[in-house]
Amino acid sequence: MPDRYAVIGNPVAHSKSPQIHAEFARQTGQDLVYERLLAPADAFIATANAYHAGGGRGLNVTLPFKGEAYGYAGRLSESAHAAQAVNTLKFEGDAIVGDNTDGAGLVRDLVRNLGCAVAGARVLLLGAGGAARGVIRPLLEQQPTQLVIANRTLAKAQLLAQSFSGGLEADTYAALAGRQFDLVVNATSASLAGELPPLPPGVFARGALAYDMMYGMGETPFLAFARAEGAATCADGLGMLVEQAAESFFIWRGVRPDTAPVLKLLRHATA
Ligand code: ATR
Repeated sequence: MPDRYAVIGNPVAHSKSPQIHAEFARQTGQDLVYERLLAPADAFIATANAYHAGGGRGLNVTLPFKGEAYGYAGRLSESAHAAQAVNTLKFEGDAIVGDNTDGAGLVRDLVRNLGCAVAGARVLLLGAGGAARGVIRPLLEQQPTQLVIANRTLAKAQLLAQSFSGGLEADTYAALAGRQFDLVVNATSASLAGELPPLPPGVFARGALAYDMMYGMGETPFLAFARAEGAATCADGLGMLVEQAAESFFIWRGVRPDTAPVLKLLRHATA
């Protein structure tokens, strides 16, 4: 019997994780199956428990359950702790271990796939919700010279900045006028609604990288704005998706898959 894993969410039909993990398993010769698990909105814990009881070895957790999974895990990694969210559950006998690979996935995509030096860079993070929180610790670990969080609701950005040590700055969008950044990461949900965060012109430094954590939506308003503003590189979040999956695969199987061919495959499929 192959080991069983799944992505749990609601909705979950659109998830690319089964395809990604099937490719990883084929590539590394790991004997596993990876399924989709639709949990009713009010039954995350019951659904996860049933999967565990049925012999499941681990789960990826997607919207809207990452916060609930954080409470569900009996043991948490430092990344999950900092993110206050769990996207990877590993069942070890009776123990439920929670981890979060989103931030590591972003940093790996930035540094290894896109050749972006986060170390020493001026970094601007847009948004102060769960998506932003999940990537702050791994970004800080790269030691940027600045990490500024901009949000429409300033108080939310301030609260978020205060919950991390390491000199984070919180600002409104208007306060960014006249400043420049080497890396701008859109962690708002604006792209989902076809909206553009209200960035002032001129925030992209020469050679800047603009990164939208969304994927599969074509060029988002943020990336179109960044291109028009002269950002040197514009990237969507597909690489982050594949890299966070690879980190989860490593946590479960102890083997690191090669992400490049899988990312290429997905790019072709969505092109
Ligand atoms: P997530 O878990 O995806 O981060 P969230 O917690 O609902 O979702 O947070 C959404 C983030 O996107 C917030 O930072 C929100 O800004 P506010 O806190 O000011 O509401 C941001 N956001 C959503 N739509 C936006 C838009 N059109 N322009 C700028 N920011 C937007």
